[in-house]
Amino acid sequence: MTHSEWNEGLFNPFDKLIEITVCGVRFSVPENNNLLRGFQYARAGALLRGNYCWNGDCVNCLVWTDDDDGGSRRLACRTEATPGMVISALSDDLRADLRLSESNR
Ligand code: FES
Repeated sequence: MTHSEWNEGLFNPFDKLIEITVCGVRFSVPENNNLLRGFQYARAGALLRGNYCWNGDCVNCLVWTDDDDGGSRRLACRTEATPGMVISALSDDLRADLRLSESNR
């Protein structure tokens, strides 16, 4: 089974995993998918509280990325994961769901 066959329909097709860093913790997430899907892949069952609209309305999926221009606030459901991406902070909902402690803020 290829990666893209796993849970087909939930994730966009992908052939490989890419590495991102979330508050100092390495995550392997599927390429060609947004960050929120990546979190769902990396921590199966973590996003089951139903706090996420998945369409840009609720802003419960806010992340802060480290960029060359000093950092940006983004919606994880609207931002594609890219290799080497560094996320320095998460919304309270994401931090709780991903079980990252205050020290991982
Ligand atoms: S999940 Fe609601 S804005 Fe991203």
